[in-house]
Amino acid sequence: MDGNGRWATRRFLPRVAGHKVGVDALRGCVRHCGDVGVKVLTVFAFSSENWSRPADEVSGLMELLALALSREVPQLKAEGVRIHFVGDRAALPPKVRKGLDAAEAATACNDRLVLNICFNYGGRWDIVQAASRLAAAGRPITEQTLAAAMSLSHVPDPDLVIRTGGERRISNFLLWQSAYAEFYFSDKLWPEFDKIELNAAIDDFNRRERRFGLTSGQLASRDPARRAA
Ligand code: IPE
Ligand code: MG
Repeated sequence: MDGNGRWATRRFLPRVAGHKVGVDALRGCVRHCGDVGVKVLTVFAFSSENWSRPADEVSGLMELLALALSREVPQLKAEGVRIHFVGDRAALPPKVRKGLDAAEAATACNDRLVLNICFNYGGRWDIVQAASRLAAAGRPITEQTLAAAMSLSHVPDPDLVIRTGGERRISNFLLWQSAYAEFYFSDKLWPEFDKIELNAAIDDFNRRERRFGLTSGQLASRDPARRAA
């Protein structure tokens, strides 16, 4: 969810004001995902590297997460959203930790849409924590055991990764899980990313041919619908 800071700066507002409007954009996207049948939405809210931002922005983001959770969880619960926190919780302020625990507990029975909130998350962190846990348990490291020890093992790998804000890079998000994901880059700043933009990304995704290392011909011979077409 990139571009909150620039959105605010262009309006002569403090960066945190952009993050606040970013919460509104997220609310809209979560709702739209539920409506169109997306089963899992994973958002990158705060990276392991974001701690190095100015102290007031970091504390503003912590406050905002705690506030957004307390305000939004009842409605998300009613809409069938299951919230999962993904990241290193140990370093988070107790208030934020409590909010995340409460949000997970309150929505644990939902299954319409899984919302993974990556907060104090990094793709490299995830690979290292998974490998460390396997090593500590004396278990072999294979693709299967590592995948199962990763922090997103409760959901399938992503089909589509969207980055907003005009940058064309991955910035330590879902490094392991996005091996076969389709990427979509939007020039819209995150506060402007609405359901029209989300539909455009999904439409673009639906036009891609996903080969998973195979050839087009192999795919056609496996899929009767394609063979007929
Ligand atoms: C939001 O956008 C991402 C978060 C860390 C919350 P940015 O804060 O990176 O916005 P820009 O890139 O400065 O515009
Ligand atoms: Mg940014």
